[in-house]
Amino acid sequence: MEELELKSVIKVCQPGELSPEEQHLLGLAVEATQRSYAPYSHFHVGAAVRLENGVEIIGCNQENAAYPSGLCAERTALFAAGAQYPGVAVKTLAIAARGTDGELVEEPVGPCGSCRQVIIESETRARGPIRILLYGRKHIYVVDGIRQLMPLTFSKF
Ligand code: THU
Repeated sequence: MEELELKSVIKVCQPGELSPEEQHLLGLAVEATQRSYAPYSHFHVGAAVRLENGVEIIGCNQENAAYPSGLCAERTALFAAGAQYPGVAVKTLAIAARGTDGELVEEPVGPCGSCRQVIIESETRARGPIRILLYGRKHIYVVDGIRQLMPLTFSKF
């Protein structure tokens, strides 16, 4: 049987290797972790998106006593962007998280599967890849397009 090996490329860097705009966006994602409403998991996630018009929008996880009614930070930010700037492409998405000890995570945390699917839709709307920055105290992961994190995507277009 033939095997199909799929390759993902993730760049690993320090904040100083990013552009000033990207460093700023990561800072917004880190700040957004402080606004997260996570009384159940105590895992505070922050996200920030930068649109092609330069507007930056933040999001953070919003939990609920009826667990599935809550929403992840990434989708909170992407849906807010879609609501406020429906025709404007998302160019960059930064994600940060604070663990149950209250500290920013040492290793970057990736978006959950549902958020990956929503990021695909945002790429479809943007007609191009979204650069994803994942914050960790040790290093930052830079992902050029969600397909690097989710091969064989389901997308309408
Ligand atoms: N969470 C996010 O905000 N983003 C993800 O990609 C994964 C998980 C949130 C959901 C929940 O509020 C908490 O983290 C613990 O799962």
